[in-house]
Amino acid sequence: MPKEPIIGIDLGTTNSCAAIVEGDNAGVPIVKLIPYKGGEYTVPSIFAIDDKGHELIGYEAKRQWQLNPKNTVYGAKRLMGRSFRSDIVETMQRVVAYSVRPGQKNDVVIDVANKEFSMPEISARILNKIRDVASNYLRVPVRRAVVTVPAYFNDRQRQAVKDAGKSIDLEVLRIINEPTAAALAYGVGKKLNETVVIFDLGGGTFDVSIIEIRDRVFEVKATGGDIFLGGIDFDNAMIHHILKDFTAKTGIDLASDPVAMQRIKDLAERTKCDLSAREEVPFNIPFITMTAQGQPLNIELKFTRKLLEQLTSGLVDRTLQMVARVLVDSGLSTKDIDEVMLVGGQTRMPVVQERLTKFFGKPPSKGVHPDEAVAIGAALYAHSLQDDTNLRLQLLDVIPMAIGLEKAGGAFHVVFPRNAPIPNAKQVTATTSFDQQTELMMRIFQGDNDQVIRNELLGEFTFSGIRADKAGKAQVEITFDVNIEGILTMHARDPSSGREMKTTVRVTQS
Ligand SMILES: Nc1ncnc2c1ncn2[C@@H]1O[C@H](COP(=O)(O)OP(=O)(O)OP(=O)(O)O)[C@@H](O)[C@H]1O
Ligand SMILES: [Mg+2]
Repeated sequence: MPKEPIIGIDLGTTNSCAAIVEGDNAGVPIVKLIPYKGGEYTVPSIFAIDDKGHELIGYEAKRQWQLNPKNTVYGAKRLMGRSFRSDIVETMQRVVAYSVRPGQKNDVVIDVANKEFSMPEISARILNKIRDVASNYLRVPVRRAVVTVPAYFNDRQRQAVKDAGKSIDLEVLRIINEPTAAALAYGVGKKLNETVVIFDLGGGTFDVSIIEIRDRVFEVKATGGDIFLGGIDFDNAMIHHILKDFTAKTGIDLASDPVAMQRIKDLAERTKCDLSAREEVPFNIPFITMTAQGQPLNIELKFTRKLLEQLTSGLVDRTLQMVARVLVDSGLSTKDIDEVMLVGGQTRMPVVQERLTKFFGKPPSKGVHPDEAVAIGAALYAHSLQDDTNLRLQLLDVIPMAIGLEKAGGAFHVVFPRNAPIPNAKQVTATTSFDQQTELMMRIFQGDNDQVIRNELLGEFTFSGIRADKAGKAQVEITFDVNIEGILTMHARDPSSGREMKTTVRVTQS
């Protein structure tokens, strides 16, 4: 074990997992998942504060969730790096019991036991817990990690994960994409020459990547996804049905009762998982509420796999539509695909596998463990960054959605199209629009819409120190640099003098 280990962390929406390379077997690295006490390999990504003011993370937080729903935060990854005024935040607000508010930078803050937390602060708590577990297991302090994020995370969200690490003195050496990590778990040490589809449907996010593996080179051909599509949405579809059924039978709406909602949510998720193995599962919750006369009321339902499939068919359709788009983007057809790999707990749902089998004309492979592959891949990549490594990996990834700037009238001018390979740099030359202008402001967005308002604002960049001249005379040469992690930096220079200009960035209220 190196003195300064680098661990791999899968920071999941519902579960997080860490792994490390411990030795090798004839040149093939041996990866160990880091066990949590009790032998579990995953830690629930849940943060809570109990009535005594104690912070609880992981299983401790999950255990008291039903009784303390308002001060228990789950699914926080979905809100990472999001501006408060996005549709996604609004939808999320409607389904969680904790309070979601706008922060100072138009970001999201959560109140837990009357204390304010930013999203990177919540993620930092979870990262810290994983780091502690790893430090205990390895018996050395862990200060460096490779952390995975959904391929479909934008620049702001990636930055937020790095910030979370920084705040707890955990250096996030590299951010890599979850599906790419899963491909590493599958392909390292096998001398493959294959094109694989990684279909990753987790608790909160959906990603699909098409990756060409040539021994130690992992080249992403195209990626796509939806960071608002995952197991939580399958649960919500069930919950919606249960509430509607209960209201129809009793006239009572349980949505405003957080403790009842929590009990329903818990059982809905368990029932959903059971329905992956069984055709029919009873759904009973005694004493969920009382009538105005004080009579206790129960929920008594029967859930069939068929009903679950009907309630969630729209969600499954969306995953398949995305697979089709990514395939088109990659320029390949289904017959070029050697293996389809399932990652993420929600891929255990039989209909997901059936639909993929139909689409690709062959069943998905069982080449990787759906819950562990991402952490294993992160650990392999971490190992390749170790000073004394003999594992050389080459990851060629892409940006998941276009990056560009706002033009007059709010149109989006694309600088990097989606699926542009990274690292990547592009130059744009801008000119002044009025006499004696010495400053130029540019708003940068990321997304796939041709109107900036529908895309995510990455920042406002101000370039100052422009040579004073007539309008249109002075030029600014702006370089957009997207690094290997999909994070953007910008700088500008005066092309006539070659002098660098001062650049300030602000992520602001939009
Ligand atoms: N047997 C099963 N059948 C259906 N769904 C399941 C099953 N087992 C787990 N799930 C669902 O999988 C989801 C969790 O998956 P996973 O642990 O891969 O997510 P995650 O990595 O935390 O999230 P993400 O990758 O989206 O950030 C949960 O919604 C859970 O209900
Ligand atoms: Mg995951």
